Amino acid sequence: MSNMQITVIDHPLATARLTKLRDARTNNSGFRAALSDLGAMLIYEASRALEAETFDCITPVGTAVGTRLKNPPIIVPVIRAGLGLVDPALSMIPDAQVGFIGLARNEETHEPVPYLEALPDDLAGQPVFLVDPMLATGGSLVHAINLLTDRGADDITVITVVSAQPGVDRIAELDAPIRLVTTAIDPGLNEDAYIVPGLGDAGDRLYGPRNIDL
Ligand code: PRP
Ligand code: URA
Repeated sequence: MSNMQITVIDHPLATARLTKLRDARTNNSGFRAALSDLGAMLIYEASRALEAETFDCITPVGTAVGTRLKNPPIIVPVIRAGLGLVDPALSMIPDAQVGFIGLARNEETHEPVPYLEALPDDLAGQPVFLVDPMLATGGSLVHAINLLTDRGADDITVITVVSAQPGVDRIAELDAPIRLVTTAIDPGLNEDAYIVPGLGDAGDRLYGPRNIDL
């Protein structure tokens, strides 16, 4: 049985930004702007499950019950495309830490090739927001989740913009209890393992073509 809890954000402001991202006519700067807006909405929704603590907040005229996050999450983008979600995450959660995972899909095998890992050694007890706009075959996020659970992470929320059903199914098979917050679950992948209808190559649409020797 799957341990995964899935939230698909169905809000008119979110779906309008998603449409901008999907639209092939949106250029790099328009794509970055729409991803930044949508990222804030995704983080807002994902943060609903975070624990808050109360304290006395002194107002100019009295004392109110104040709240703050008890244990702010660490934001972990999968580079490159996940970088587009870091600024909106930090603007919503200024106390968050940031870790980095660099992965690039091999265009022939569609398997992720790791090139960077910059994470704390111990992630036990700390909420992790793993952010990547795209969940396609699931290979990249499964690899990233394994890196996190190897460090003791036991509270992982995966945040994506577009998820493909095969990738969702693959993450649902993991033993780790994962939460998924996304704006769309698209039906499938084409022969190049791109999500259909998807939005194309998220990294290229944010930053232009990459050239890494894999
Ligand atoms: C994209 C995307 C995900 C991955 C999803 O990155 O940002 O990390 O593909 O595909 P998967 O679910 O089949 O693994 P890509 O490897 O193209 O690198 P980039 O972000 O540097 O362009
Ligand atoms: N990575 C992307 O950026 N887009 C896809 O459709 C699949 C993987």
